[in-house]
Amino acid sequence: MTRNARRYHITTFGCQMNKADSERMAGILEDMGFQWSETPDDADLILYNTCTIRDNAEQKVYSYLGRQAKRKQEQPDLTLVVAGCVAQQEGEALLRRVPELDLVMGPQHANRLEDLLEQVFQGNQVVATEPVHIYEDITKPRRDSKITAWVNVIYGCNERCTYCVVPNVRGVEQSRTPEAIRAEMEELGRQGYPEVTLLGQNIDAYGRDLPGSKPDGSHLHTFTDLLYYVHDVPGVERIRFATSHPRYFTERLIRACHELPKVCEHFHIPFQSGNNALLKAMSRGYTREKYLRIIDTIRRYMPDAAISADAIVGFPGETEEQFENTLRLVEEVGFDQLNTAAYSPRPGTPAALWENQLSEEVKSDRLQRLNHLVATKAAERSQRYQNRIEEVLVEDQNPKDPSQVMGRTRTNRLTFFNGDIEALRGKLVKVQITEVRAFSLTGTALEMAIA
Ligand code: SAH
Ligand code: SF4
Ligand code: F3S
Repeated sequence: MTRNARRYHITTFGCQMNKADSERMAGILEDMGFQWSETPDDADLILYNTCTIRDNAEQKVYSYLGRQAKRKQEQPDLTLVVAGCVAQQEGEALLRRVPELDLVMGPQHANRLEDLLEQVFQGNQVVATEPVHIYEDITKPRRDSKITAWVNVIYGCNERCTYCVVPNVRGVEQSRTPEAIRAEMEELGRQGYPEVTLLGQNIDAYGRDLPGSKPDGSHLHTFTDLLYYVHDVPGVERIRFATSHPRYFTERLIRACHELPKVCEHFHIPFQSGNNALLKAMSRGYTREKYLRIIDTIRRYMPDAAISADAIVGFPGETEEQFENTLRLVEEVGFDQLNTAAYSPRPGTPAALWENQLSEEVKSDRLQRLNHLVATKAAERSQRYQNRIEEVLVEDQNPKDPSQVMGRTRTNRLTFFNGDIEALRGKLVKVQITEVRAFSLTGTALEMAIA
C-alpha cells in the first residue's frame, strides 16, 4: 500500500486552541498526501487531540482510545496518535497505559507532526513532550469554517491559578510577532474569510515575551497595540478575541474596541468566583470590585456590549455564603453567556492537594443553582434585541430547518432567519429581530449590508 492513499481522522476535544492546533495538524497531514475520513473507523491514521481541563474531559479520551486500540490489534498498520493536553500531562505513562499508541505529542509539537510521523513510519514509538520553541507557522491549516478563522497570537500561560493544568500542559507564554499575525490575517482576507478570532489563554499577556521596550520601560508590544496594527486588514470584516484576564485588562483595550469598527463588542472575561477570599485562594490577582469596575467601564464606552465569562463552583473550602457571592455577581452583571463548571481536582495543581475539598453533591447542587440563574439572566439580556436591527454574519444552514440560515450578531448571539444558504453564506445581512430566546434570536432579513 502506498502512503499517498492513506486516510486520516482527527477528533478534537477541548478549547479553541486545540481546535486551531487540529486545523494546523490536518493541514500538515493533507500536505503529506493523507485524505480526510469522516469516521475514525475508515481511517489509517487516527489522531485524538485531547483536553485535560477537568477529569471528565480526560476520561472521555481513554474511552475513545480503548476502542481504537482494540481495532489496532486486528489492523496493525493503523497509526494511532494522541496529541494535546492529555498527551503532555501523561507522556510516557500513556504508552504504558495504551501500548498500541504510535505517537504521543504535546501541544507545543503540533507544527512538527510531519517530522514525528516520519520517525513513526521508520518503526519507532515516539513521545514528544519536551518544552520547545514553537516554530513559526509554516503550515497551511485545513480550516473547518469558511467564515471564521482562528489566529493564534500567544501560546501558553505564565499564570499559576491554583486549580488549572493549562500552564503545565501548554508551557510558557510565546507570542507570535505582529508581522506574522498580520500576514496570516492578510492571507485570510485574500481567501475571503470575513471573520477572524485572535486566540490566547491569556491574551492580555500578548507581547510581554517579545524583545524591545518603550522609553518608559513598558513593553513595546501589547495586545491593544496589536489590534491597532491589524484592524484594517482588507477583506476581514470582523475581529474577535479571547480570552481576557481581569488582572491585566486595560481601559486602553476597551477604547480600542470602541474605536476600531471591525472589532466586535463582545468581551469574554472569566471571573471564576464572586468572592475575594476564593479569588485569592485561586491566585487570580484581582478582586470582585476590580472585576465590576471593568464591566462598568466597558458599559460606559459600549452600553450594549455583550459580556461572557467562565465560573467555577465548589472550589476547595467554598462556603455556601461564598458561593452566594458568585450568584450575586452573576445577578449584578447580567452575563449574556456564562460557562460554568464544578471544580475538578487536577494532577500537578496546588488546589488538588488541599484537604478542604467539597463533596460531589454540594458541587452539583451549586452548579445547578448557578446554571438556572445564568439562563434567567441570559433570557433577560436577550430581551434588548426584540425588534432591533442587527448585523448578522451568515455561517451556515439551520440544521433543524433548511429554509433558514444561521449566523451571529456582532455581540455573538446566534441568529436564525429565512434565506438560501448558497446565496447568503459569508454575507453580512441586516436582520430585524422578531423572536428572542435565552441564547438565540430569530428575525427577518431586511437587506444585504454588504453585497
Ligand atoms: N485562560 C482562561 C481559562 C482557560 S480554562 C482564564 O484564565 O480564564 C477554561 C475554563 O475552565 C476556566 O476559565 C475555568 O472556569 C475552567 N477550569 C479550569 N480548571 C478547572 C478545574 N480544575 N475545575 C473546573 N473548572 C476548571
Ligand atoms: Fe489557567 Fe489561569 Fe492560565 Fe487561565 S490564566 S489558563 S485559568 S492558569
Ligand atoms: Fe483543554 Fe488544553 Fe484547552 S486542557 S481547555 S485543550 S488548553
